Amino acid sequence: MQKIIAPSIGTTLDRFIKNRQLHFPYATGELSQLLQDIALACKILNRDVNKAGLVDINGDLGNFNIQGEAQQKLDVIADDRMIRALTNGGQVCAILSEERDELIEVNNESHYIVAMDPLDGSSNIDVGVSIGTIFSIYRRLSEPGEPVNTKDVLQKGKNQIAAGYVLYGSSTMLVYTTGYGVNGFTYEPSLGEFVLSHQNIRSPENGKIYSINEGGYRSFENPIREYINFCKDQKYSARYVGSLVSDFHRNLIKGGIYIYPKSNQAPHGKLRLMYEANALAFIAEQSGGMASDGCTRIMEIQPIEFHQRSPLFIGSKNMVIKALSYID
Ligand code: AHG
Ligand code: MN
Ligand code: MN
Ligand code: MN
Repeated sequence: MQKIIAPSIGTTLDRFIKNRQLHFPYATGELSQLLQDIALACKILNRDVNKAGLVDINGDLGNFNIQGEAQQKLDVIADDRMIRALTNGGQVCAILSEERDELIEVNNESHYIVAMDPLDGSSNIDVGVSIGTIFSIYRRLSEPGEPVNTKDVLQKGKNQIAAGYVLYGSSTMLVYTTGYGVNGFTYEPSLGEFVLSHQNIRSPENGKIYSINEGGYRSFENPIREYINFCKDQKYSARYVGSLVSDFHRNLIKGGIYIYPKSNQAPHGKLRLMYEANALAFIAEQSGGMASDGCTRIMEIQPIEFHQRSPLFIGSKNMVIKALSYID
């Protein structure tokens, strides 16, 4: 068996994935291929995002997705890019996308299912603020060749095989986990490669940053307001970009908590369980952080609908515990 060499900073994503695959002697390489397919789609999307102001891909299309959101042109471009890359890669039997009402059935002989937010932070596209892509990977429960059913897709977050995000920011970073820690890769455009830059990311147990849209303060329940006031008393910094991936990533690196609570306008919160909360919860937990809906571990929630929403408290473990202590 090939000698396993510990990856070092500067290793490319492809080499890192292959190296990791050596740890699983019976791995068939399908998951490795799937991760590389996702990375390829995001490299192409990175190019689209970086020229959004120069070509006609800003603004909205004048139609609305199942979420009731005005679909941005780049939402649909991102969705198409991801679906094309995953379809061509041949490793998925079905795709659940924020931008599609129904499940997209692909290669019925394949084992994997991808739930994705092709473009997170759409409201920021036209104003040059960081946006992202979020993905979550499950292994189907039915046998290849059988019809894919909703049970294959609506699995608890703890069943995820892998999850990650790409942040199109000051640099473009891919961060992912397969359940053996969290690693970050920075895109090097001159090579066209994601290169290992953040090995074994650990979430600081404490932090001094809180991220919540305080514009909703009056519609939050009292415990949330009390926690916000606690943060102010502690003189924490308020940081809220309006792109979940950006806010989550900053808090992962520096320590902090992101909260999107339920409110009068959003009785189940705004964020989607399958392709926002679960994926980031896997990353959070694998790096020593925590993710809850306010009373249940996010990755224990049994999904019942493709696009169901969930309140989200996620980030540094002791900050999430403190926030939850306000909720009886
Ligand atoms: P998306 O663009 O994929 O629909 O997600 C937007 C989400 C998330 O990225 C962000 O944190 C949140 O919406 C912002 O919501 P508010 O504008 O209500 O604060
Ligand atoms: Mn959206
Ligand atoms: Mn999103
Ligand atoms: Mn989105």
